[in-house]
Amino acid sequence: STLADTIDAEVFDAAPELNVVANYAVGYNNIDLVAARERGIVVTNTPGVLTDATADLTWALILGACRRLGEGDRLMREGRWTGWAPTQLLGADVAGATLGIVGLGRIGRAVARRAAGFGMGVLYTARHVAPEADPAWRMVPLAALLAESDIVSLHVPLTAETRHLIGARELSSMKPTAYLINTARGPVVDEAALAAALHARTIAGAGLDVYEQEPTLHPALLACENALLLPHLGSATTATRERMGRIAADNLLAVLEGRTPPNLVIG
Ligand code: GLV
Repeated sequence: STLADTIDAEVFDAAPELNVVANYAVGYNNIDLVAARERGIVVTNTPGVLTDATADLTWALILGACRRLGEGDRLMREGRWTGWAPTQLLGADVAGATLGIVGLGRIGRAVARRAAGFGMGVLYTARHVAPEADPAWRMVPLAALLAESDIVSLHVPLTAETRHLIGARELSSMKPTAYLINTARGPVVDEAALAAALHARTIAGAGLDVYEQEPTLHPALLACENALLLPHLGSATTATRERMGRIAADNLLAVLEGRTPPNLVIG
């Protein structure tokens, strides 16, 4: 299944002989795990192989949002560029800024590691001090991270606890010069509240790869020039998608052959 397929009780009831669902994604919020568990259905995912691709795309959004690449590209294509000007499309410095990572899992760590090349300070939230965290990174509560970061990047899975983790209150506690980056899952952010903050410029900008109602865009977001919008491309490299396909197949074969699959979510 892909992350766009809702795999719920209705699907399971229509497929009484189903043994295993191999999700072609690391996130598995599209699958009803309670319903799967009740029926003894195994669920697997594709962790690890897409970490670097997703971290790279997160950096594309960080750089693209802070340096206004979407607006620059539109200016060129629409024939509106009249030549170099000292105050044209001024953005924010990335080098030396403070990066806040919400959720220091595999992808959050890979994004944080890349920040060393930009001489950035790194703050993070996590449920526990992450043993793999660089000692230079500082674990802080979410409120402190939002207040102190120049760039806030989301790397939590979508669960009941993380749905709308970033809403109007959280956005209002960010710096007016700060950027929000989301390559995790759309519903982690209250999109209407984000569009309002972008429109009112209570934050400087956003870089988004994921949306609350994919593939539908919140109309107010489309109107925000300071939002850089990508169509859920986090893992979209040729080699990564091939690795994801292979490990999804390995997971299926393992279950069908009675072995424990390499990437068991439940079962
Ligand atoms: C992509 O969004 C994934 O969860 O793999």
